[in-house]
Amino acid sequence: MKTLIKNGRVVTAVDDYHGDILIEGERITLIGEKLDIAADKIIDAKDMLVIPGGIDAHTHMDMPFGGTTSSDDFETGTKAAAHGGTTTIIDFAIQNKGQSLYEALDTWHAKAQGKAAIDYGFHMITTDMPRTRLHEMKKLIHDEGVTSFKLFMAYPGVLLVDDATIFRAMATAGEEGGLICMHAENGVVINEIVEHALEKGYRAPKYHALTRPTKAEAEGVNRAIALAEMAGSAVYIVHLSCHDALKKLKEARDEGIPAFAETCPQYLFLDHSYYEREDFEGAKYVMTPPLREKWNQEELWTGLKMNDLQTVSTDHCPFCFADQKQLGKDDFSKIPNGGPGVENRMSLIYNGGVVQNRINVNRFVEITSTAAAKIFGLFPRKGTIAVGSDADIVIFNPNKKMKISAETHHMRVDFNCYEGFEVQGVPETVLSRGKVVIENGKYVGKKGDGSYLKRSTVQHQAKESTFARLAR
Ligand code: URP
Ligand code: ZN
Ligand code: ZN
Repeated sequence: MKTLIKNGRVVTAVDDYHGDILIEGERITLIGEKLDIAADKIIDAKDMLVIPGGIDAHTHMDMPFGGTTSSDDFETGTKAAAHGGTTTIIDFAIQNKGQSLYEALDTWHAKAQGKAAIDYGFHMITTDMPRTRLHEMKKLIHDEGVTSFKLFMAYPGVLLVDDATIFRAMATAGEEGGLICMHAENGVVINEIVEHALEKGYRAPKYHALTRPTKAEAEGVNRAIALAEMAGSAVYIVHLSCHDALKKLKEARDEGIPAFAETCPQYLFLDHSYYEREDFEGAKYVMTPPLREKWNQEELWTGLKMNDLQTVSTDHCPFCFADQKQLGKDDFSKIPNGGPGVENRMSLIYNGGVVQNRINVNRFVEITSTAAAKIFGLFPRKGTIAVGSDADIVIFNPNKKMKISAETHHMRVDFNCYEGFEVQGVPETVLSRGKVVIENGKYVGKKGDGSYLKRSTVQHQAKESTFARLAR
């Protein structure tokens, strides 16, 4: 099958030109001016941006959490992602305490296999990592293509791991070309504050935010970076939400420490005041870290512009308002943490970033696709438009406007955090490995089009580890 995309403005993280793209099978085979080649399908991309498919490096499909399960599974969630111009997700498999990493990975393969509309990889949420299990981590990195691991400093008794475990995992990741993703929040202190709040009878959704101060996140970021430096590894901070945390990250990066971070649309567009919404509506925005005071948003945009923040992922973890969020009706600490977003990321960031003149169009591509591909071992197969790369391509209309609404979105959740937001910049046609999956806004793919991605190891040049220094 040959597909020719003609007359588009091709934009990558580093290019911006008018040209035609030939796709043969799943890959891009030729790029040039005015290609005169017979093809089975010709897509006219006049007046359109032709950009690499989005990569969302942080989603939770079909995830048991907070006494329920996230409402999108791999079928519904990846279809919604495709509608939004995302052609790769990296989701999180979870190791239960005491469980082998292989078994955990098998469970997530079974959830996704034959269901996904777009390609997907897995990070592994690691809940315990004694020395006797480190060989499993190595096997995941080298044989299974799971080259990143998420560790939690939050949720004591559920997901939290101690500093020794974090250090151990980081040291192994550093040696083996893996990467530790850190949920950086001081969960032990947060728990003290939550217990105090509940004793005082503070029960409403807004107390979710008030019990998770920005300093708790900043402390987590600072500690994660210090542990990574001692362990001789890079670190990737997930869902960074505020200025206090960004400041710690920036200080480390200024010293040449390989510390990376993502932020999410919710921290760029929503703020603390959403928790004040009446009739328990504030529960829709209960996510972790919580929404912050509005002034943090511009600081995060500056972080994105200056490359202190490298990526925008969604932390898509939807729970329906009608039943799931209600689990915390009388107690904010029982509201399932997380919100939807996988479908809206590209348009939100294009509108807030490029249209509103905070970043240029190359940086838009970089933070929504290319940087994640590089950080997580998918580049240059994903994250760019080049000969030999997978033909994951979005024909993006930079002028079209749309109103975001739960009435029209495709995510399996009964509300949208950005309800009523007007955005300019809409994906019209989306190709996943050469196959058109969205055509003029309509889904034309099928369940199971997406494949599992084995990711490569990554080398992020950390300084010498403490272990290596001992051996000198
Ligand atoms: O509220 C959130 N973020 N839910 C998903 C779990 C996590 O910490 O990423
Ligand atoms: Zn997290
Ligand atoms: Zn998450």
